Amino acid sequence: MENKSKSHRISASDDVELSTYLEIAKELHGEQPMVEPKLLPSGERETIVVIDFGSQYSLLIARRIRECHVYCEIVPHDAPWEKVASLKPKGFVLSGGPASAYEPGAPLAPTYIYDRHLPVMGICYGMQVITYQLGGQVSPGEKHEYGHAVLHISAEGSPLFAGLPTSIPVWMSHGDQIIEMPAGFKALAYTENSPVAVIGNDDGIFGLQFHPEVAHTPQGKHIFENFLYRVCGCHGNWTASRFMAESVDKIKQQVGKAKVICALSGGVDSAVTATLIHRAVGDKLTCFFINNGLLRREEPERVLNTFQRNLKMNIAYVDASDRFLGRLHGVTDPEKKRRLIGREFIKVFEEAAAKLGKVDFLAQGTLYPDVIESSSAAETKASAKIKSHHNVGGLPAKMKFSLIEPLRYLFKDEVREVGLASGLPEDMVWRQPFPGPGLAIRIIGEVNKERLEILRAADWVVMNEIKKAKLYRQLWQSFAVLTDVRSVGVMGDYRTYGYLIAVRAINSNDAMTADWARLPYELLDRISDRIVNEVPNVNRVVYDITSKPPATIEWE
Ligand code: XMP
Repeated sequence: MENKSKSHRISASDDVELSTYLEIAKELHGEQPMVEPKLLPSGERETIVVIDFGSQYSLLIARRIRECHVYCEIVPHDAPWEKVASLKPKGFVLSGGPASAYEPGAPLAPTYIYDRHLPVMGICYGMQVITYQLGGQVSPGEKHEYGHAVLHISAEGSPLFAGLPTSIPVWMSHGDQIIEMPAGFKALAYTENSPVAVIGNDDGIFGLQFHPEVAHTPQGKHIFENFLYRVCGCHGNWTASRFMAESVDKIKQQVGKAKVICALSGGVDSAVTATLIHRAVGDKLTCFFINNGLLRREEPERVLNTFQRNLKMNIAYVDASDRFLGRLHGVTDPEKKRRLIGREFIKVFEEAAAKLGKVDFLAQGTLYPDVIESSSAAETKASAKIKSHHNVGGLPAKMKFSLIEPLRYLFKDEVREVGLASGLPEDMVWRQPFPGPGLAIRIIGEVNKERLEILRAADWVVMNEIKKAKLYRQLWQSFAVLTDVRSVGVMGDYRTYGYLIAVRAINSNDAMTADWARLPYELLDRISDRIVNEVPNVNRVVYDITSKPPATIEWE
């Protein structure tokens, strides 16, 4: 029923490129990233463990739990008890998945789920697995139930439905169904097509045929809250400031008197990483900010201003624009551009870092979705990315670091909350994602100074108008693209032959899919008008009205 969606493009972290270059470089030397020790002191943390059966919604389950201010981690369905025990779980959630519980070889829940006498909530396949393993019967349903349904709650007083009306809209996506419940279970709710849509027993084990984690189940969060607070007894004390304080403590202990380096891109992930580490170890942290010449107007100044002047961080600014532009001379192939930029980044970074002498730690802004992606994929994230960035050079063997990844267990919006809690300016925290290869992949064809200036000027107008219209935060990305099309125009009494700028603005949750934004005509009109008036050599502006798929967000 559920297909794990795969993307050959890299995920959408504005700092992902930085981490990728650095990780690949390390892996080329046979090093594996060190797993960050847990950020919360044991004993105080309330953790829910999500057992992953390969659902496309597993991350969403984790998001919902974190939204209830309860910490959770996703582990594969075959994770050994030793690994799970170290998390000191207060309960388990079993995800959905594409298999059928009764088929030979179908993934089953580990026995500790049942042996530990902790609360369990199985969702879709998770419910079917519980039923199957505890002696009930699961069979293919007569018809596949997919989409909206109305759930009628039949059990009175179940903690799972406390505070909810007796009928609620839910989202279904299943082919199999429960024919016979295991001993000790009661049916708690039904839908038109599923007589047994929710089951539960007196030990706090529940099964839900529908998906409470998706937005199409509007009261889904309420159900999670009930499970977490009423059934598992969690208090919901996972907050940004608590995370920050504990993370800073942890980094202090880990780093001691050693030196830490960090590549700063100006994006929110590396900014928050650097801020946490700076709070913990002050000047023992050196951040490298490499200007690759492919940044937007005033970007180097703004980044330097924030980190050097306002936050008083130790920043090594490296203006390598000419080196990057030299490499890109005559290059038009998008993947070749990415490769060249990646390789050059590593070279510049290693040269700059070498000047510091012995460095023990490298800080990176890796986020939880990247970690999950890498642990569930057969190949690691870094090796998957090698395909699009091909053999970027490695850091010299003599440079051996341990990784510090304080955001390793956070989602993007949690990173933003931590950023705000740690005093980063809102502008920095709410920056839209910006690709590592920068403007190079927004210029179709050759990248040179003249074309970069044209794009910078056009992009400035787009950003400025979108911000004035107060749409910047709600759009996932909005930017200008310099195409390789030139077209005829007329200005005053003479003809022009100028560049064509494309404007792109999209809504998205994760950059895997995206919808083109229905910007108001007046706004589009102002953007177009200002671009043709303010940007020399541009005489035409078009708006990209393609969604992803089939188009990608970037043009290259
Ligand atoms: P696409 O164009 O694949 O973009 O729909 C998805 C997200 O990834 C960003 N992107 C990149 N980020 N290096 C990056 O760091 C890249 O090479 C790259 N290509 C695309 C893009 O901006 C969007 O957020």
